[in-house]
Amino acid sequence: MDTRAQLDAIRARAEEELAAVSDLKELDAIRVKYLGKKGELTAVLKTMGQLSPEERPKVGQAANEIREIITAGVEKRNELLKAELQAKKLEAEAIDVTLPGTKVEVGKKHPLSIVLDEVKEIFLGMGFEVAQGPEVEWDYYNFEALNIPADHPARDTQDTFYITEKMLLRTQTSGVQIRVMEKKQPPIRMIAPGRVFRSDAVDATHSPLFHQIEGMVIDEGVTMGDLKGTLETFAKKLYGEQTRIRLRPHHFPFTEPSCEIDVSCFKCGGCGCSMCKGEGWIEILGGGMVHPKVLRTGGIDPDKYSGFAFGIGLERIAMFRFGLDDMRHLYENDVRFLDQF
Ligand code: DAH
Repeated sequence: MDTRAQLDAIRARAEEELAAVSDLKELDAIRVKYLGKKGELTAVLKTMGQLSPEERPKVGQAANEIREIITAGVEKRNELLKAELQAKKLEAEAIDVTLPGTKVEVGKKHPLSIVLDEVKEIFLGMGFEVAQGPEVEWDYYNFEALNIPADHPARDTQDTFYITEKMLLRTQTSGVQIRVMEKKQPPIRMIAPGRVFRSDAVDATHSPLFHQIEGMVIDEGVTMGDLKGTLETFAKKLYGEQTRIRLRPHHFPFTEPSCEIDVSCFKCGGCGCSMCKGEGWIEILGGGMVHPKVLRTGGIDPDKYSGFAFGIGLERIAMFRFGLDDMRHLYENDVRFLDQF
């Protein structure tokens, strides 16, 4: 084959390969194969010395033309392949805005937290502070200091889980009264919300774990009238302006006198309905005047100061507030229930 024919054959093959090339790496290999220093075209040019002087410039020109043709072909292919690549990339990255999105579940406040926050808000508005005590408590704070000695029958109704003979899971938040008195002299206005524990079997109205909100006010000249006024304001704020309260005599070892406090049923207004079991009234808390013995134990002079205290059952007021018939719903963490608040 003469040099001319060789050049034509190279051109034909290069064009064929260029037409078939499908990626940039292959394309580069073709470029090196034909145009590189050790490429086919160079190899042919090296044999030009064997040509006659007349033929040499003609073949040289033809070789240059072919080099240009192949170079242009490689560039064109390069651009095409890059464009194809870009198009594929864009296609792969395309977002289908019609696809349903991923739902973000937003949590909600637990009904007990909703009511507790409301109660706190009401008392903070009346100048109360929020205090706290430990859930694992000494027998002293939970019973002894509250005028409930070891042989007192009130202990029977508040059996609990004992860690040692002197350490237990608190049965009431009332112990926080003593803890606050030990730290502070009157005037005192505090509420102490928290978990309490009793060895009760679970049913619609009982749970071995529940919540109370303790309240206590101590100052000079505090009377039962202050207790009534404070709790009436509280009840109206919580259940509405039309709400009335009534005090029934009761007994608690740490208050004297003591009472239980009912609110008029917010559903029927006091006529009697299924919510209040026909009574017209719903018991929501216990209270009374802090016993002088308890004040003295807490380091406060009962001849100078007096005070009232009360204990609210958080579950009870939440159940009435939301019309719940079973306390267990509050602890089961069923989102179908919790979602409704
Ligand atoms: N601790 C009482 C209970 O669990 C509730 C209570 C009654 C608290 C009277 C008080 C109070 O502070 O004065 O049944």
